[in-house]
Amino acid sequence: MLMFKFCIVLVVGLAGVMAKPAPLTQEPSCGYESCHPIDDKKINIHLVPHSHDDVGWLKTVDQYFYGAKTEIQSAGVQYIITSAVEALLRNRDRRYIQVETEFFKKWWDEATESQREDFQNLVNRGQIEMINGAIAMNDEACTNYQSTIDQFTWGLRFLNDTLGACGAPKIGWQIDPFGHSREQANLFTQFGYNGFFFARLDENDRLHRKANKRMDFLWQGSDNIESSNIFGSVFGSDNLYFPPQDLNWDVGETNDPIIDNPSSPDYNVPFFLKSVQNTVNRYKKWFPTNNLLFTMGGDFQYQSAEMLYMNMDRLIKIFKNHTEINVIYSTPSCYLKAVNDAKPNLTLKTDDFFPYGNSDHEYWAGYFTSRPNSKRFERVGNNILQATKQLTALSKILSGHDFTDDVNDLREQMGIMQHHDAITGTEKQNVTKDYVRRLTKGIRNAEKHFSEILGSFVTSDNKDILLNLDLQTCLLSNVSICTTAEKNVIVVYNPLSRPVSHYVRIPVPEGSYKVYDAESKPVHCDILPAISKFKHIPKEVGTPLPYDLVFEAKINAFGMYVYYLKKTGDNTKPGSSVKTQTKFGSSENGFELNPETNLLKSVTIDGVTVDIKQEFLYYQSAKKDIWSGAYLFRPLPETVAISLSETVYIESVSSTTSVDEVVQVFNDYIKQIIRVYKAPGHNYVEFDWLVGPLPNLTLPNMGNEVITRFTVADFDNKNVFYTDSNGRQLMRREINKRPDYTYNHTYEPIASNYYPVTSRILIRDEAKNLEVAILNDRSQGGSSLNQGEIELMVHRRLFHDDNKGVNENLNETEFGQGVVVRGSHLLTLGPITTTNKNQKNAETKEKIRELKKLLSPIVFVAPTDKTKEEIFKVINENSFIYAGGSNNNPEGVHVMTFEPWKEDSYILRLENIFDAANSTVSVDLNKIFLNIKFNSIKETTLAANHWLDDYKKIPKFSWSTDVKDTSGWTVDMSQDDGTKITLTPTEIRTFIVKV
Ligand SMILES: *[C@@H]1O[C@H](CO)[C@@H](O)[C@H](O)[C@H]1NC(C)=O
Ligand SMILES: *[C@@H]1O[C@H](CO)[C@@H](O)[C@H](O)[C@H]1NC(C)=O
Ligand SMILES: [Zn+2]
Repeated sequence: MLMFKFCIVLVVGLAGVMAKPAPLTQEPSCGYESCHPIDDKKINIHLVPHSHDDVGWLKTVDQYFYGAKTEIQSAGVQYIITSAVEALLRNRDRRYIQVETEFFKKWWDEATESQREDFQNLVNRGQIEMINGAIAMNDEACTNYQSTIDQFTWGLRFLNDTLGACGAPKIGWQIDPFGHSREQANLFTQFGYNGFFFARLDENDRLHRKANKRMDFLWQGSDNIESSNIFGSVFGSDNLYFPPQDLNWDVGETNDPIIDNPSSPDYNVPFFLKSVQNTVNRYKKWFPTNNLLFTMGGDFQYQSAEMLYMNMDRLIKIFKNHTEINVIYSTPSCYLKAVNDAKPNLTLKTDDFFPYGNSDHEYWAGYFTSRPNSKRFERVGNNILQATKQLTALSKILSGHDFTDDVNDLREQMGIMQHHDAITGTEKQNVTKDYVRRLTKGIRNAEKHFSEILGSFVTSDNKDILLNLDLQTCLLSNVSICTTAEKNVIVVYNPLSRPVSHYVRIPVPEGSYKVYDAESKPVHCDILPAISKFKHIPKEVGTPLPYDLVFEAKINAFGMYVYYLKKTGDNTKPGSSVKTQTKFGSSENGFELNPETNLLKSVTIDGVTVDIKQEFLYYQSAKKDIWSGAYLFRPLPETVAISLSETVYIESVSSTTSVDEVVQVFNDYIKQIIRVYKAPGHNYVEFDWLVGPLPNLTLPNMGNEVITRFTVADFDNKNVFYTDSNGRQLMRREINKRPDYTYNHTYEPIASNYYPVTSRILIRDEAKNLEVAILNDRSQGGSSLNQGEIELMVHRRLFHDDNKGVNENLNETEFGQGVVVRGSHLLTLGPITTTNKNQKNAETKEKIRELKKLLSPIVFVAPTDKTKEEIFKVINENSFIYAGGSNNNPEGVHVMTFEPWKEDSYILRLENIFDAANSTVSVDLNKIFLNIKFNSIKETTLAANHWLDDYKKIPKFSWSTDVKDTSGWTVDMSQDDGTKITLTPTEIRTFIVKV
């Protein structure tokens, strides 16, 4: 689209030429006018040179960039970009696309001035097209939409800062992710993108698309957002995003070069004419127009770019006089433009591309769960990133202290974590370690000046007391490690634009404790036994503590609250404990155990009781041929999950005025706390599970994949269940069925029904008007294989490789044993629909709870030698930190992003979390924060790299489909009124604001 814009600019420029002499320097011509012309009467082959550069996989990010460790893989991105640039300078006809901004950024930072200038010129004249543009090519199954938006925002900003308008991508290039989400398509439309190109989809789907000329199609990204439609294109290649047969000319590949010297005995032009003709004869049956895209590249190709380009030059040359085929250098944008000009009638796709099966027995459903600990750590990273970005912005606005540099590292590391071999868990173990190292560093950088930020909200003369605190989040509190002393300051910050009640949990040693709020009033707190003693953790890592201290914090929107925690004695008095008790919680929210099995019997939410059983089970992995691995989930054929609930016993029961907890022990590697909090609004039951180390099973080296399964009694969901798409819209799933094509489910009846669950999975019994949902805390594979069931895979340990390239078994170990995983599931239920205004339907409850879980309050802890009077004196003189945000924001409004941007600007991004037709909501941007008024507000596209006013002027592509005609995404501003803006159902709007 930007290209259209440049057409306009150019025309204006020509008008100006009349008055002034023609400028000698070249006008940017990165628009569609820089596309090589196609020949309408022929088949046009668009050669798209590209290199697929993983931001970590077999090697770490740095090893890939610099080209280290060639014994693992010959791959060096610095050579690739440098070599491509040189090859492009040699011949203006050549084209290249640059994809991963993490690598482009590294290259740019180390490039010389003249290299940068060359690159810029190539971009300006359309020889290089910047594509995708995010830090990494993100996975689409395990990611949350907020992190996808963030990593696009961060990557696209770098492109605009360095390359300007010609560097703005227009194409989603997701060529390697293992399946594709509807939400990704939705986001692309709102980034202002025109196309979504990819390679991996279920093989049955591919065959069906080929047979029906549907390899190009139109994809509707959302039921709610007007014109959320994007052109979709699947590559024709038999080898994913690699070149067609015989045309793979990278160094180390075995295809012959084109030899067009007739005097050479190896002259082979006829061979290539024939080979390409054969490819064209096949492809042209699959695509709707006379344009065919050839992906001319692959993993880390173009280290010796000239090799590929010399052969492509010749390929173009030998087809110069061909009667049927025209070969040109091209880019995805030029291909898309050519297809659009041909005005095809496309089919409309409304669902997604999960799960991805590359054969009848190879479903890529294992990676939804692989490496559960790094998947969870990524979510923790997001939680801390959002909180620290907000605090940095608030501190800058309210006190003038600018700590923006602190969050930049975490911004980048979180982008890297979204990569399709990072959050997926499909990288080598050494690379996992590097990701964890990076993310830990990013987090510590982001919270480095938290004490100063806290201090910046305080005007007291004694604020040095706060500045001297070493406030840190307890990243190891999931294994009961956290450093506390006799006296501690605890700061809790709520990153949501709504007030929350949150139960703070801090691991503590044996002892009795008191907690005080900032008015020096004691706060009720409980001491509960920790889930485990974590004996396997060595001393160097820390000392796991035996108890959890728990207290309720009620915090305003964007509010910060300071507490004082004091040890008052050496003996612990845990909450009352009666092991024979079977009912827990209150008549509003609670649960009951079956005294015979010690398993869950029923759950009560908002006064409604439903019989639900919960247990752990495992799948045995297949014994031969195709194994479960980092990517694949392949249970034994004709198997069902095997129960691990034979001998469940209750280790402890704790019941206090604020929380009831039961610790169940399933076996020597599975434990679980079932928990219900008693404060109003906590309408869910929590399952806090601990699984691992997983054993070798009955057969030597047999893989072991553990699930949790909830079974609702007497429930008819008619084989249908729902899973979220990247934490946002819901996707309808039906057992053994795909909306778009047919497949034979009998080959893999379990794995082919597994879908990614990144925030929730639910079932509905329409006749009973009852919905039961499980919210999770990281990506997991999940399904509902039988009526009333919901299952989620929580952990996997595998002793074979699944032959998808990583060449390592997914046998994660830590401290000399299989890795241990801890996680949390929240169960909630309610009516599917309700006519009673005071009653919330299940969907509403889930959306609100999901947010509170995703962006939960951040707890900072610092030991201190000061008394509580000394600490609170400083706090009490100030009021801001108690209420940064207004508590009166409309319920549907979620302030997704509030972060420092450039010099004096900030990003403010708002989302309507509800999708019901009547949920349109208005909000005054100047009433979101109590003390902050914005004097400049300018709207942008979703990733903040186009001013909306500019974007609106760009002509949009229109498409005809079998269902309807559509054109590009727009924002409806007709209901806005000054600073009061309107959000339609699920809409997200992004603003650059200044105070
Ligand atoms: C194409 O045709 C032109 C004009 O007839 C001729 O000069 C040229 O050599 C031909 N090129 C090839 C590659 O055959
Ligand atoms: C992109 O960069 C240009 C040139 O630096 C700047 O003027 C423009 O405001 C930037 N666009 C956005 C949306 O920030
Ligand atoms: Zn890849």
